[in-house]
Amino acid sequence: MAEAPEKNLAMDIVRITEAAALASARWLGRGAKESGDGAAVEAMRNSFTTLHIDGVVVIGEGEKDKAPMLYTGEKVGMGDGPVLDVAVDPVEGTNLLAYGRPNAISVMGVAPRGSMFSLDRSFYMQKLVVGAEAKDVVDLDAPVDVNLERVAKALGKKVSDLVVFVLDKPRHAKLIEDIRKAGARITLATDGDVAGALMAADPRSEVDIMMGTGGTPEGVITACALRGLGGQILGRLDPQSYPEKEAIQNAGWDLREMLSTSDLVKSDDCFFAATGISGGDFLHGVRYSGRHAITHSMVLRGKTGTIRYVESFHDINRLRQLSAVAY
Ligand code: FBP
Repeated sequence: MAEAPEKNLAMDIVRITEAAALASARWLGRGAKESGDGAAVEAMRNSFTTLHIDGVVVIGEGEKDKAPMLYTGEKVGMGDGPVLDVAVDPVEGTNLLAYGRPNAISVMGVAPRGSMFSLDRSFYMQKLVVGAEAKDVVDLDAPVDVNLERVAKALGKKVSDLVVFVLDKPRHAKLIEDIRKAGARITLATDGDVAGALMAADPRSEVDIMMGTGGTPEGVITACALRGLGGQILGRLDPQSYPEKEAIQNAGWDLREMLSTSDLVKSDDCFFAATGISGGDFLHGVRYSGRHAITHSMVLRGKTGTIRYVESFHDINRLRQLSAVAY
């Protein structure tokens, strides 16, 4: 007999990323990074009180003494459902939001307890992200031009057709030079490599591959999404300072070790949601129609690989009457 469908938690967690996006979108372009992030954190935490999970934040706003909410180790949810690791980034791209640039998103992933990679002391990771068609052809140790040729072949394109997403950081000068030499095109963004990774894995986006070093927590969140999207992330911890390097090594970690999607999130029984805050190429930002605030989200389930895009119309006046959060 066919099994009855299980509950899709992603349909619940999207309400949390929507709440964070709605609260923080009011800060678009206002130059107030902390206020935008703070509004999203508060809205997210408030929404957790309705969620039937026994969750612990493994990727969050940092350590308890520095972050009053959603800190690593904080218990979230009502405590009466599945026992989960929780990864949140209430505003992924705080500067994108503060300066009104595209692709600030609110993201969240959940997976069975103990299945998400977490090494508090690691801040940066080298990453290479591709979609499902190219997931078996890339190699983090191969030269840039070789990876680009392999990806182009897997996608049935020429290298000169490819678009590579790279964070516009001084540390990427050589990478950018190598990509240009290989003949591929580049899209540079000041921030937001989770959005870059999602675009690389989404066949509808013009981005084919993401390369470069970004946050380690963002790498884990990306892996959670890729479980649903079917792409691949290859990563390697890439400390950007001596104290970071020393702390990772003291924790017994071998810096040569390569991490794949399934190392970063060990179970495919995971769920992911992202809601656009500032408008971008793959998710709209929060729009206001007068009566409604309209959100656009991506909702993924790891086990089935179902991808949903959800457009929600929130009645602002009713929300304000019902909720403690300032929408
Ligand atoms: P925040 O939202 O925490 O500011 O992160 C934005 C981001 O651009 C990430 O997408 C990326 O992984 C990381 O910062 C890169 O870090 P840095 O800006 O220090 O190079």
